[in-house]
Amino acid sequence: MAAKPLAGAAGGESPYGSTPVIAFVNEKGGVAKTTSCVNLSAALAQRQHRTLCIDLDPQSNATTAFGISTEEAIGREAHCLLTMPRFPLERAVMPTEIANLDIVPGTARLADCDKALVMEVGREGRLRSKLREFYRSVLSDNYDAILVDCPPSLDLLTVTALTAATHMIVPVTTKFYALKGMALLGDIVATLHEQLGASIRLLGILVTMFDKKTALDTTIYRLLKDKVEREFGDYIFSTIITKSVVVSEAEAGGLPVLLREPESSAAEAYRALADEVMGRLGADVGGAAAPAPELTGATVS
Ligand SMILES: Nc1ncnc2c1ncn2[C@@H]1O[C@H](COP(=O)(O)OP(=O)(O)OP(=O)(O)O)[C@@H](O)[C@H]1O
Ligand SMILES: [Mg+2]
Repeated sequence: MAAKPLAGAAGGESPYGSTPVIAFVNEKGGVAKTTSCVNLSAALAQRQHRTLCIDLDPQSNATTAFGISTEEAIGREAHCLLTMPRFPLERAVMPTEIANLDIVPGTARLADCDKALVMEVGREGRLRSKLREFYRSVLSDNYDAILVDCPPSLDLLTVTALTAATHMIVPVTTKFYALKGMALLGDIVATLHEQLGASIRLLGILVTMFDKKTALDTTIYRLLKDKVEREFGDYIFSTIITKSVVVSEAEAGGLPVLLREPESSAAEAYRALADEVMGRLGADVGGAAAPAPELTGATVS
């Protein structure tokens, strides 16, 4: 039986029906954007939500994490979607080995998008218009959630994702400079709202790779939580992803930890995150929209 769709996710304002499009963003590298995007995609799929993961990172780690090779991805990848005006979303979609979970794979060619699109007016809106076309087409398959993995920079690819997305999740590690990148991100989102009519909202900040045995991690987590709650509101997900070797082992094996080690605490945490995300998106209240907090130009310093 199909689970309740993530309806009402964007408060009825989504340009894609009721489907949330969630970008994983942080210009800081190695904060578990990809790991979180991949495992949350898998957890949503396991909850019977039809999920599409879009890999917008030239490193294409999300693609590899699902065991898809570059050879398999060539010709139906995100690069084609962004650079070829008449290349529809459905042509880029590939199934994964996980039920209910498809992917638009990424390859290193994504790094050329900046150059390929340099003369294009409105290039930041390419993904948004492809998603809109997809939703207008009566022949298209439908998804309950679309998750987009972004590269570790605020470049054209990330701006493309932010322009298309209805929500974003910002993974952070409990390191001293964790919030620095968020200030810049806040400014960029404000600009997107003003200049491109993007309607993205912050769904939450996800603490990842947390080491509860390290006093500094605990201290920084408290500081981070206090600061975010004081200055922005209840943004920090109560689910915390702890540091665990099974995550990197699963990555090396080309399968999300959720499938490779389903009993592990990391897998359990990503399932809990899926429930929290569904709750925040309003699925728990019969599809009524739970207002997601809006990230304005306010900065955290
Ligand atoms: N909970 C965890 N415990 C241990 N290692 C983890 C955990 N989450 C992620 N990692 C590892 O940390 C590294 C960085 O993770 P990941 O690639 O998801 O980060 P990222 O933010 O996507 O990086 P990039 O910015 O380069 O795209 C990977 O080797 C991954 O296996
Ligand atoms: Mg990544």
